[in-house]
Amino acid sequence: MQKKTRKMLVTYALPYANGSLHLGHLAGFIQTDIWVRFQKMREVECLFICGCDGHGTPIMIQAEKLKLAPEKLVGQVRAEHQKDIKGFLIGLDNYHTTHSSENQALVNIIFQRHVEKGNINKRVIKQAYDPEKKMFLPDRYIKGECPRCQAQDQYGDNCEACGATYAPMELKNPYSTLSGIKPIEKESEHYFFKLQNYAALLQEWTREGHLQEQVTHKLDEWFQVGLQDWDISRDAPYFGFKIPGENDKYFYCWLDAPVGYIASFQNYISCHSEYHFSQYWEEKNKIELYHFIGKDILYFHTLFWPAVLSGAGFRTPTAIFCHGFLTIDGYKMSKSRGTFIKAQTYLSHLQPEYFRYYLATKLNDQIEDMDVNFDDFMQRVNSDLVGKFVNIASRCASFINKNFSNKLAKNMAKPELYKAFSQEGDDIAKKYEKRDFNQAIRQIMALADRANQYIDERKPWSMIKDIQLQPETHEVCTLGINLFCLLAIYLKPVLPAIAEKVEAFLSVAPFKWADKNKPLLNHTIQIFQPLAQRLEKTQIDALKQAAQNE
Ligand code: MSP
Ligand code: ZN
Repeated sequence: MQKKTRKMLVTYALPYANGSLHLGHLAGFIQTDIWVRFQKMREVECLFICGCDGHGTPIMIQAEKLKLAPEKLVGQVRAEHQKDIKGFLIGLDNYHTTHSSENQALVNIIFQRHVEKGNINKRVIKQAYDPEKKMFLPDRYIKGECPRCQAQDQYGDNCEACGATYAPMELKNPYSTLSGIKPIEKESEHYFFKLQNYAALLQEWTREGHLQEQVTHKLDEWFQVGLQDWDISRDAPYFGFKIPGENDKYFYCWLDAPVGYIASFQNYISCHSEYHFSQYWEEKNKIELYHFIGKDILYFHTLFWPAVLSGAGFRTPTAIFCHGFLTIDGYKMSKSRGTFIKAQTYLSHLQPEYFRYYLATKLNDQIEDMDVNFDDFMQRVNSDLVGKFVNIASRCASFINKNFSNKLAKNMAKPELYKAFSQEGDDIAKKYEKRDFNQAIRQIMALADRANQYIDERKPWSMIKDIQLQPETHEVCTLGINLFCLLAIYLKPVLPAIAEKVEAFLSVAPFKWADKNKPLLNHTIQIFQPLAQRLEKTQIDALKQAAQNE
């Protein structure tokens, strides 16, 4: 009987279209991409979908500042994101936008279904309003003195000095960051989603194994506080979708943002008719659906999103995978500290795979933050990638190229070593599947050590001088190249471009995971070309300098 192929749809959180991608965004993308590439190598039918999040006040304000129509800004930023995503070798199948016709139609349908079910309420609330800018102010556009510790210039929701949380109008001497004047309170009617209607469903869903344990604990706290109604509307001026039947009210961007996952999928299948909408988004348990996200947006994905989906007749996610934040040299990325590194700045100094590799050595299935320490970064890249991995090939390839006219021997020197490497692949696969990338890398590098040790013992460079030992040297180098090939297969989810060069060097089709059981014997390879250069301190310094000047 033929094995049923697993099918899955994987998403990464949609970055806001008000600015460039930075290394923090890329950390999330890379984690997702490693997992997706691994799945594709295992011949899982896997789609990787994303897009930019085009709505909200910050995008409207940024567009105003640049004297651009917001649509235009979203278009430009989306193109820039796409370039960066490609630059970091993220194998996305589609990068759409929430500001799209597909998304608008879907949001309207979803809203309508919830209205019909009685899940939407309307009520008048009071909010801070900037009378000069003539707009309601989101919390982050109001600053003032902390009501508890008197610290100056604190944001409208919480104090960075003492950690107090409060409503924006509780600030002392509050001012609008847009006009500088004191906000007033103004009434307006808003639409609310009655999350409480889904309390039972959510209590169950969040305990059914869709979430990391740590996340389930966090949710327990939220359940205890009680599920609040969710304000899903915003007053004009706003950049978003108008609520049907209203003139100056819009859907809050966080309502249409996750719907953007569905819209991006729909946009993709409009020219890939082999995929069916209902299989992916309506039928339960047919397709696996995974959302990778950062820890700051848990609430939206683990509470609102399953409720919005199931209430509107859509399937719920198979799992939400949440990651921690990227810090640089132990600190939050910050412009003033010069540790805010844009994707483009990195790419104009260093290769994408060095970051991918370094990150993989840090990633696991937990929500811990990941720190980039540049000394450690350099050390890792030079000692593991150049010193261990690539070294194996450069020590064996030249003899195959020069002494054996590019042809591998019919037999390997020590087939049991190859077999051991090949068997460990099953274990490594389990670690990738569980998103224990650091453990996978550790195991791969231990294999690289063993391969180098073997070559050290056999010393093909001295063996080759003895004409009698030529056939044996041939077999030793053939084993060396085959071990190297296995490591390249195992590292391919992390190092796709290097793996591609290895495929070309070995004259083989793109690696699949199953190739780990197919040794290359009596097979012609190409001339070996250097695969990775050592990283120099000057390159790191130049990157840091450039980040500082940003
Ligand atoms: N637009 C929303 C997501 C909507 S998803 C339906 C958003 N955008 S964002 O640009 O702020 O963040 C996009 C992703 O990048 C999120 O997963 C977020 O957690 C992640 N990160 C942003 N800064 C980060 C770090 N410093 N480190 C790791 N991930 C970071 O939220
Ligand atoms: Zn305070």
